[in-house]
This record gives sequence, C-alpha cells and structure tokens, in this order.
Amino acid sequence: MKTQVAIIGGGPAGLLLSHILHRHGVDSVVLEKNSRAHVLSRIRAGVLEQTTVDVLRQNGLGTRMDRQGHAHDGMKIVWAGRESFFIDVKKHVNKRFMAYGQTSIQEDLFDAADRRNAKVLSEVEDVQLVDVATDHPCVTFRHNGESVHLDCDYIAGCDGFHGVSRKAIPANVLRVFEKEYPFGWLGILSETPPLPDIIYANHPRGFALASMRSPTLSRYYVQAPLDTKIEDWSDDRFWSELKARYPKELADAIVTGPSIEKSIAPLRSFVCEPMRHGQLFLAGDAAHIVPPTGAKGLNLAVSDVFYLSRALAAFYSHGSTTLLDGYSEMALRRVWSSVRTSWYLTNLLHRFPQASDFDQRTQEFELDYLKSSHHAQAALAEQYAGLAFEQ
Ligand code: APR
Ligand code: PHB
Repeated sequence: MKTQVAIIGGGPAGLLLSHILHRHGVDSVVLEKNSRAHVLSRIRAGVLEQTTVDVLRQNGLGTRMDRQGHAHDGMKIVWAGRESFFIDVKKHVNKRFMAYGQTSIQEDLFDAADRRNAKVLSEVEDVQLVDVATDHPCVTFRHNGESVHLDCDYIAGCDGFHGVSRKAIPANVLRVFEKEYPFGWLGILSETPPLPDIIYANHPRGFALASMRSPTLSRYYVQAPLDTKIEDWSDDRFWSELKARYPKELADAIVTGPSIEKSIAPLRSFVCEPMRHGQLFLAGDAAHIVPPTGAKGLNLAVSDVFYLSRALAAFYSHGSTTLLDGYSEMALRRVWSSVRTSWYLTNLLHRFPQASDFDQRTQEFELDYLKSSHHAQAALAEQYAGLAFEQ
C-alpha cells in the first residue's frame, strides 16, 4: 500500500487530520487499533474553544454542532459556600465556547469519512513505524489477518497517550515534562437537564464541576481519591457528594436521575518535546496530556491538527517545508499555554491532600483576588479562551 500521509490513530486528532488533508487534495490512510464502536463509546470532555469551533465550521463539520451544541460566554466559580462569580470570556476577549461532546465530534468525523469513502482501517494490529528519520518511512501492521506494508511520505502519530508513535522518537532526542496530581475525577453522565452554566466548585470536601452535553444531558464530576473504586459509588452517593460541594441554591437546582455512564480519570500533565522527528509528526494526546480542568485536551488536539494540516497542505501545493519545519515549536507554544492554564485551574480549584495551612490560605486568597479583580478575571478569560492561532 502507498499513501502520502499515514495517520496512526482514529480518535479526533487522526480523523480530523485526514478530513482536512482530503479537502486539500492530500491522500491519507488512518490506522486505528480499536473497533469503531469502541472509539465511539468513549466519553470525554466537551467544551470547545472558539478556535476549535471555527476549525470545525471552516471544514464543513459544524452543522450538527451548531444545531445541538450549547453556546456560552464563560464559566462560574464558587467556593466554600459563598456566592458564585462569572468569568465573562465574551466580555473580556470577545470569544465564546460551545458545549458539544467529543463523542458527537467523533460521530461527525466518522460520518464525514464514510461520505468521502476515506481509507480508515479499524482493528489494525501490531502497528510499527519504520525508518521515520529517512526520506522513505513506512508503517507495517496486520489487518484482517494479513501483514501490510504502507509506504508514505509522512507519518502523523495521532495515537493518544498510550500509542506507539511517540516511542519511535529516540530517547536521546525526546524530552518529557510530567506532573501527576494526587487525586482523580469521578464523572457521571445523566439524562437530566443541566444547570444553565458550567460551574466549578472548590469546597473543603473537594472540587466539583457541573457541565453539560445538551439541554437534556448533564455531565458532573467530583474530585475523588486516586484509589477510590467505582463500585463504591452508587448514584445516590454521587449525587449527595456533588450537592454537598455546592452552595444550597445551586445544590437545590441540580436535577438528579440515573447515571448512564460513570468513570474515574486520573489527573496528569505531560508534554513531550519535540513533536517532530524526521518524517514523523505527533499530534494530540500522543504528544501531550492535560488534567481535564479547563477542558483543553480536545482543543489542543484540534490546534495541533490545524497547524499540521496547514503545513502538509503547503508542502503538497508548492513544495514548501517552512511550516513543517516550524510545526513543533509553533504547536508547543499553544500546548504550553494550555498546559499552564489547566495546571493553574487544577491548583486553584482542588483540595490537595498534603496542603499545608499556608497552601490553603494562599489558595483562598487567590480565589478572593480573582473574584474581586477585573484584571485577574480578564487574564484568566484570555487563558481559558485559548491563544489565537499563529499565522
Ligand atoms: N495503533 C493504532 N491506533 C492506536 C494505537 C496503535 N498502536 N494506540 C492507540 N491508538 C488509537 C486509540 O485507539 C484511539 O482511538 O489512537 C486513538 C487516539 O485517540 P485519543 O486518545 O482520543 O487521542 P486524540 O485523537 O489525540 O484526541 C485528543 O482530547 O479530550 C481529550 O484526551 C482526550 O481523547 C482526547 C483527546
Ligand atoms: C466537561 O464537560 O467534560 C468539562 C467541562 C469543563 C471542564 C472540564 C470538563 O473544565
């Protein structure tokens, strides 16, 4: 087999890359380890930055999002039972957000791939990257019991944090920056009307978040110890813990119901540098992970794909490698901006098990400052909205 760009991984990063490349007349093959049903069953974050919304719309992927998504202007923060305050991102930086689940984006991407008859191979096994630092890289794998050899010009590693692509970068080239947080998020999805805003809570019992997927689908999270077991969390226990972390008027407004999904996620920040080695380019979770606070993960995957697709399109249309050569540095500037924002929000909003009295007081005064200062709110709004793309 032969293609221009071999894309490893059919999550949002891989499928979006193949979609945009196709619009620029660039051929690709997507190699996905899991079944389509499995990929579509994953519940992930669902708040899209303006830049992400723009990329989806500009590439013909905005129709259902504009119909079903919930546009909003910012988020609320509440702590220790006090009154909540609103970070008005629209007012400060004239950008908005869209609540629209990653699962729905993944469905839209598969539908678009079917419409253009894209080469998306599911359930491929034993993917190996060969000769990535030469002019003739290739990818080998097994599919339907046969061994396949895929020649290509470039390889896009979009295979998430546990994928194989990053491992193809030699250890003496790769630099890793990593931080693990001493708690996880227990999340549920329920077919109940959400609160009208996204509301983050910092409470002595721990962090909580009220979010949404649609007018009839709510997403809620509570901070939980890393070793907590999902079996120990009945729906009733979850709802009472969630409500205990919000002030009474908000707790009373939460509509409870049976959960349709419940999961625990650890929190980690991870960045690898560079995001390119030879003909291999990493995008999305393959290169970086952020804690979910701030919902930056999917947005970063989209921004990497925006830069990478633009660079590959420039190469195939007029032979220029300037954008490809600048990809890693340019993508990493946006990555680090969001890594910093999600780290800041994680520190601001969670209760850390080992926090000293000093740590606790400074966190409270940081929240006080944010609540009372227009400048602090403007600074957070700018970061929460995400950087504009570089030219
Ligand atoms: N070969 C082929 N495919 C692989 C391999 C492999 N060895 N390893 C992993 N994959 C596939 C996974 O099955 C998955 O479908 O790569 C895909 C990676 O998708 P994601 O993990 O969703 O990562 P990405 O596309 O970068 O999406 C960005 O945003 O909200 C965040 O973390 C969240 O997944 C989300 C991410
Ligand atoms: C979500 O809806 O899953 C979500 C929303 C906001 C966040 C993180 C996750 O900061």
